[in-house]
Amino acid sequence: MKEQIEQLLYKVRNSEITTYEQLEEFRSEFLSKKGLLNELFDQFKQLPKEQKKDVGQILNILKQEVTEKYEQLSKQLKRELKQIEYNDLTRPSEPIQLGSRHPISIVRNEIINIFQRIGFIVSEGPEIEDDWHVFTALNFPQDHPARDMQDTFFIRRNPDILLRTHTSSVQIRIMETQQPPIRIIMPGRVYRNEAISARAHCFFHQVEGLYIDKKVSFADLKQTLLYFAREMFGKETQIRLRPSFFPFTEPSAEMDISCNLCGGKGCAFCKYTGWVEILGCGMVDPNVLENCNISAKEYSGFAFGLGIERITNLKFRVNDIRLFSENDIRFLKQFTSAI
Ligand code: PHE
Repeated sequence: MKEQIEQLLYKVRNSEITTYEQLEEFRSEFLSKKGLLNELFDQFKQLPKEQKKDVGQILNILKQEVTEKYEQLSKQLKRELKQIEYNDLTRPSEPIQLGSRHPISIVRNEIINIFQRIGFIVSEGPEIEDDWHVFTALNFPQDHPARDMQDTFFIRRNPDILLRTHTSSVQIRIMETQQPPIRIIMPGRVYRNEAISARAHCFFHQVEGLYIDKKVSFADLKQTLLYFAREMFGKETQIRLRPSFFPFTEPSAEMDISCNLCGGKGCAFCKYTGWVEILGCGMVDPNVLENCNISAKEYSGFAFGLGIERITNLKFRVNDIRLFSENDIRFLKQFTSAI
């Protein structure tokens, strides 16, 4: 019996096992219920006393080596199998979440689209501006309170440099470099030093429009804006112009549209007036034209500016403008373009 065990020990030490199948064979040969080890221990019980010590010793060595080999190999094979899984370049990857267009971009593109259809061209300008383009050239006198109306972020070391508070600065940049006819639409981000709330934010987006040519009149302004309002909010939409003030337009107006929620009948949204304000506009002040070396005798024009967040709120019924900059994918995924 001792010899048989020695042979088996030799076999165990020299057997090469590289696959799960071989390991399973090894297990059933030695370790299963009817395997060799159990069989040997049964035989061992029947041995005469004087042989027991010798045989017992070597039988225990065999048992220990078989179990160790089995455990070690099964660990190793598992590790290798995992590695193969990781290295499998043909495995399908984790699904990548598809993004969606931001509601502000959707509405900005719609606004641009509407004006492009009547010949307006997109122009853009810098967000970091100087006093001239944001205020002085736009006819804001040096100490005029209108400068305070737009809570400006200035650069402390040089108050001539600031974050633009409106896209009207782009009007100036274009008029300084181009002679009429000018028919442009200017989308962009603007900044104001305001406390952040559901209705106000320290940055938001505007679209500005400018049309300069010979004999441009207030009627052209009104008709252009009526066209815009109906394209954007539907054919039934009415507009109303109320006198207002901007340093760079004269006369100036604010435009309301008939409330697109109640159709003008009056509801909580329009505070029971039937109207909601959407933009500022007016005839370009002759001083602004002259500041840009455009003859105010020869040319006239109109300008308007609107907040994209406001239009988006109206269109998609969003009631808190902070949602636009929180990047919550559950919010952002709800919007699809109408155009
Ligand atoms: N720039 C103005 C604002 O930010 C809007 C405006 C633009 C008004 C053009 C008139 C003409 O409030």
